[in-house]
Amino acid sequence: MSEPAENPSEPKGRGAPWTEERGTSDEGRERSEEGMGRRVGPRRREEDTVAVEGVTRTFGSGRTATRALRGVSFAVQSGQLVALRGRSGSGKTTLLNIVGGLDRPDSGRVRVGDSDVTAMSDQERLRLRRTSVAFIFQSFGLIPILSAAENVGVPLRIAGLAPKKREERVRLMLDIVGLGEHARQRPGELSGGQQQRVAIARALAGSPQLLLADEPTGQLDSETAKQIMRLLRTVVQSEGVTALVATHDPNLINIADSVLELEDGKIKTP
Ligand SMILES: Nc1ncnc2c1ncn2[C@@H]1O[C@H](COP(=O)(O)OP(=O)(O)O)[C@@H](O)[C@H]1O
Ligand SMILES: [Mg+2]
Repeated sequence: MSEPAENPSEPKGRGAPWTEERGTSDEGRERSEEGMGRRVGPRRREEDTVAVEGVTRTFGSGRTATRALRGVSFAVQSGQLVALRGRSGSGKTTLLNIVGGLDRPDSGRVRVGDSDVTAMSDQERLRLRRTSVAFIFQSFGLIPILSAAENVGVPLRIAGLAPKKREERVRLMLDIVGLGEHARQRPGELSGGQQQRVAIARALAGSPQLLLADEPTGQLDSETAKQIMRLLRTVVQSEGVTALVATHDPNLINIADSVLELEDGKIKTP
């Protein structure tokens, strides 16, 4: 949001400097860094958190091959909430998986922060997912036998945060998503919307750089979906995270900073 782009869905010019300057108009990030001391560590200030360049991915081979991604390029500016729209089968999930290091492209490059995800070993990509990138799924992905608080604490446990700090962070995150009163309940004792709130709290607990969400309201009724999308909008701002959200949901399309549309494995240029 450092300058008004002529076309919000158009990727910004590449080769952006690793700017150390603090853009004065970058309000979301300013607020998050000054407010509450929620950050676990200092944040880098690249202009783009995500840069995708010429990514292709084909499943299978020969006559049955599916070209899921056919040369996808875009960038997401730090602190932005970007909606990724496109029909079922257009490649949204494949793209999110590649950006988050769950899958590898056949060609092309993906950068997250200052890491070249496509050049990483399996071990390094695992580390990336533990430290820098968080996922939210349509099916929430919570651990059924753990309470809401324990679920949110999982990534912090893996990160080796001390119990007291972990508890504080968990409580803060549950408060942020409006579930302070439900910390001890298990997922089965929560509504779908509440479960997705827990998943959002868990995703953001470790202060990732990038949040990837794959149709996060796909299982929710429209009113709940609207609340979840608004919550996403709010936390992206307050936590200073960058988010890429695959969705058909107009509730998000309308409040996203920009919208990318996939069509048959390519970004559709409007
Ligand atoms: N693991 C896989 N094996 C084979 N084909 C796949 C696999 N994953 C995705 N595809 C195919 O790739 C295309 C894009 O799928 P996907 O990324 O799931 O689209 P979307 O999330 O937009 O619905 C589809 O044709 C799908 O069938
Ligand atoms: Mg999908």
